[in-house]
Amino acid sequence: LQADLTARAAAAQDLASLEALRVEALGKSGSISELLKGLGKMSPEERREQGPAINGLRDAVAAAIAERKADLEAAELDAKLASEFVDLTLPPAPERRGRVHPTMQVMDEMIAIFAEMGFALAEGPDIEDDFHNFTALNFPPKHPAREMHDTFWLPEDANGERKLLRTHTSPVQVRVMQQGQNGKLPSWVAQGQAPPIRVIVPGRVYRSDSDATHTPMFHQMEGLVIDRAIHMGHLKWTLETFCRRFFETSAVVTRFRPHHFPFTEPSAEMDVQCDRSGGSIKIGEGADWLEILGGGMVHPNVLKNCGLDPDEWQGFAFGLGVDRLGALKYGMPDLRDMFSGDVRWIEHYGFSA
Ligand code: PHE
Repeated sequence: LQADLTARAAAAQDLASLEALRVEALGKSGSISELLKGLGKMSPEERREQGPAINGLRDAVAAAIAERKADLEAAELDAKLASEFVDLTLPPAPERRGRVHPTMQVMDEMIAIFAEMGFALAEGPDIEDDFHNFTALNFPPKHPAREMHDTFWLPEDANGERKLLRTHTSPVQVRVMQQGQNGKLPSWVAQGQAPPIRVIVPGRVYRSDSDATHTPMFHQMEGLVIDRAIHMGHLKWTLETFCRRFFETSAVVTRFRPHHFPFTEPSAEMDVQCDRSGGSIKIGEGADWLEILGGGMVHPNVLKNCGLDPDEWQGFAFGLGVDRLGALKYGMPDLRDMFSGDVRWIEHYGFSA
């Protein structure tokens, strides 16, 4: 029996069959265990003779199994080490890294320039109500100017109210002025901004409009300054200084064109001179004028709607087209590609993080 069991132990091919053999011989009702139990029924003489023999058998088989087990475990470890070997000298697999979207890059550049001029950051919701987007901004009820904005209206809610996707960042002017009045300054408005107020408002806006220079979703950056004795010259200086810093050249040529917005009086649009006749866009020369913003002096009715006395406070506001500024600075021909989600586009025009 000993020869048979030790031979089988030595020949066991894996740990599982070795364990089966152990149970068969040394387990609770294994063959050797049964022999050991038999000792109790023997006469003392028989036991004196058989006991050491059976115990010896048990020890020999247990030792054979333990030895084979150690061998098998070592072999298993060797196999594992061989298969899991990592060659640290191999070049790393090329890794695809994300790119920063030009709009976000441009926003960061703009925020940095305005922050240096002392503007704090403000934000408002993309889903607006008619009051903030139109009424408080002096759009008369049923006035065609509301249609002018190609508004995306949301379905009526339970209160019979129709919310909308904001058509511009100007509603945040209203929110900032009102919150300042309530003395409830949101965390993103710097303390001491109620009034005097000096904020910029970057954000997404929506209009049902799509061609090479219009996308249904785009980005604006609103600016609002409310203080005493503010005039149009402050607006011009702020925007011209911004443009020189943004385009990184003092050669920028801008022009103000009279315009109309219900919420500013007087109102203007500002264009940047550029040359688009060659392959690239040159700023400060050429025959093209690209509109980059609307602005003007905050209308007295807007101040009143926000609880400010127009005889005490004046201000200017502007709304910059962020994507357009980016397209102008970094030479992107078609605005629609900006939001097409095409990986090739972002790999070409994107910035490294
Ligand atoms: N909200 C205007 C627009 O989207 C731009 C603007 C902002 C004009 C602030 C005047 C003052 O066209």
